[in-house]
Amino acid sequence: MLQTAPVNMEKALSTKLRARGINMTFTRDGVSTNVLENVDLEVNEGEFVCLLGPSGCGTSTLLNIAAGFLRPTSGEVTIDGDAVTGPDPRRIFVFQERGVFPWLSVEGNIDFGLFKLPGEERRRRIAHYIKMVGLQGFEKAYPGELSGGMKQRLEVARA
Ligand SMILES: Nc1ncnc2c1ncn2[C@@H]1O[C@H](COP(=O)(O)OP(=O)(O)O)[C@@H](O)[C@H]1O
Ligand SMILES: [Mg+2]
Repeated sequence: MLQTAPVNMEKALSTKLRARGINMTFTRDGVSTNVLENVDLEVNEGEFVCLLGPSGCGTSTLLNIAAGFLRPTSGEVTIDGDAVTGPDPRRIFVFQERGVFPWLSVEGNIDFGLFKLPGEERRRRIAHYIKMVGLQGFEKAYPGELSGGMKQRLEVARA
């Protein structure tokens, strides 16, 4: 039998991410390319959204703007109503090209972003995310000793 948890409709329908009138123009060697033109997007709390398009159409550019890694030429992104002006630990980003540090172990990579937390909390979180992605037993392993899929799972844990 399929059972679903009761849904808080007000929360479910509240807008989490809102992009308004996003334009992005890259200029290289004096040649301008419009990559995003007047893009509007609303994503609600709990929604799973997939951006699809041919290679080079601008999906990574839009995600980089939503993450705060790039500033759009014009337009604005808000998350929970707050304007995105730069990277923020409230948003996580799983990179397509590996974002893990090859010179740090599995636990070292997960620990890297936790520097503001007390030691006990860091250890708790490292153990939690290692378990979540099924890398128990590989805490001391380096990325070069992991398979491609395991490296991508470490990337999820790091994010
Ligand atoms: N930093 C940049 N400088 C100049 N052009 C860029 C830059 N980043 C992306 N582009 C160009 O913008 C277009 C969209 O790139 P991208 O968003 O990475 O595409 P995709 O939809 O495949 O993720 C491509 O033509 C790419 O060459
Ligand atoms: Mg891309």
